[in-house]
Amino acid sequence: MNPIGNPASPSTTRRRFLKTTGALAAGAALVRPGRARAAGEILALNGGPKAVTIPHADANRWPLYGKEEEDAVIALLRDPGYGPNATLEKEWQDYFKVPFVKSYCNGTSALTAMFFGLNLPPGSEIMVPSYTFFATIVPMRLFGLVPVFVDINPRTLNFDLDDAKKRLTANTKAVLPVHWFGNPCDMDAISEWAKERGLIVLEDCAHAHGTSLKGRLMGTWGEMSITSFQATKPLPGIEGGMGIYQKREHYERAATLGHYDVPRSFPADSPYRKYAVSGLGLKLRMHPVCAALARVQLKGLERRTAEGVAQTRSLNDRLIELPGLYEQKSRTDGKRLYYAQNTMFIDEAQAGMTREAVVKALQAEGVRARAYTYPLQHKLALYAEAQWWHHKPTIPELPGSEQANATAISLPYFTKAVPEVVEQYVKAFEKIWSHRKELARA
Ligand SMILES: Cc1ncc(COP(=O)(O)O)c(C=O)c1O
Repeated sequence: MNPIGNPASPSTTRRRFLKTTGALAAGAALVRPGRARAAGEILALNGGPKAVTIPHADANRWPLYGKEEEDAVIALLRDPGYGPNATLEKEWQDYFKVPFVKSYCNGTSALTAMFFGLNLPPGSEIMVPSYTFFATIVPMRLFGLVPVFVDINPRTLNFDLDDAKKRLTANTKAVLPVHWFGNPCDMDAISEWAKERGLIVLEDCAHAHGTSLKGRLMGTWGEMSITSFQATKPLPGIEGGMGIYQKREHYERAATLGHYDVPRSFPADSPYRKYAVSGLGLKLRMHPVCAALARVQLKGLERRTAEGVAQTRSLNDRLIELPGLYEQKSRTDGKRLYYAQNTMFIDEAQAGMTREAVVKALQAEGVRARAYTYPLQHKLALYAEAQWWHHKPTIPELPGSEQANATAISLPYFTKAVPEVVEQYVKAFEKIWSHRKELARA
């Protein structure tokens, strides 16, 4: 909850300098060559020229499909079948070096199967952030499982282990961190604590394909994990999902829920082999168009990730020099990706301006910024009604999640190199920061 940036970053050093010299407190404009002109200009809000003049509506286009994806889909149309599913599963297994994987029609169905795979008694609780998509939580109820809502760190947007420690109950059986926007959670500390407490570790990697912590891929820290190939995701197949399983019993049980044909492949001693042909009631098979697209996208994942990081750094390294402006904090021993948007945070006291004033001024300058709030699950009607749950989930206070929603500013995640636009974005921010006193009064 401490609003500090990455302690190792040069920007922090600069901030300390500014703080200690009193420049921050005085609200003085940062003056650097190139900034003076911006500082002298009238805000677009007040009729001045816009800082951002280059059209860039296309700069965050996603998914990025090309000839290879087109060829893969056409090949499937000419020879329709499920072949790409098995091939994608094999390639996924090789990429992650894991014993078992299974493809699903989306991330939500992979999560549903994962909860079933746990085979926990009804009333078992799973610790999960409230700051997540419904699919990380709601399918739990189909198996009598109950969420324990855990706060996030408002600067990483990830599972707050200290908060989780306070919320442990006798019924808690598992933890399910979500690597939000491709930012790896503290899986080392979380796993260590879970081990001490006898909790099963699960992961939601729907935003985090190919990311890692201490060289270990996200999705391989937990006993089970899932990802999504939905169109907006870092590895888009338009709609699809995948589960990773370290244990045979989890894999066989999870896969049997939604794949009537898979138990046939289980060894003779499998307790689920007898459900070949009948399955257990759902059909969650991936569409092979997704598999065909995901196979091609997997090949380019590391390149796209590296380009996305470079593009984001070219903007953020400059923006985080501004007092009171922070980015989603990541660990230096992790490898993250950027996904969907570039999330910044404002400390209004340090910046000397409200988020509302800054966003309004940025938008007037032509920056595609907006105040960003994510719906918190624990506040939704579903969790307040006992009828849907084995026992009613506890509805907690989650100040970190609230702080994230009160301070986040979303910028576009540029998925192609647009150095001139980046330059204009920096100019817009610097112009606004140089008018801090004026905006504070607005
Ligand atoms: C964190 C998270 N988990 C799970 C999912 C579910 O994935 P899908 O949309 O493929 O069902 C999403 C999708 O947005 C997500 O954001």
